[in-house]
Amino acid sequence: MSRLVLHERNRPYVVKVGDQELHLCGCGLSANKPYCDGTHVKTVDEKSDVFIYDTKGGRVKIQSFYQNP
Ligand code: FES
Repeated sequence: MSRLVLHERNRPYVVKVGDQELHLCGCGLSANKPYCDGTHVKTVDEKSDVFIYDTKGGRVKIQSFYQNP
């Protein structure tokens, strides 16, 4: 079963575990999940538009069907 998952966050979550600071992916694009690998920089110009990203780094803007009423 395939799913479309909407990620609205375009930066990592910063979590402290003991003395360690972890950067967890919030954008959904990291190739090293659950950790951020910096790929979120591709999302900085999204604004309120919705994009589908492919595994090769490409993206397509789509008409959002997740609009709030
Ligand atoms: S938050 Fe996803 S790659 Fe950085």
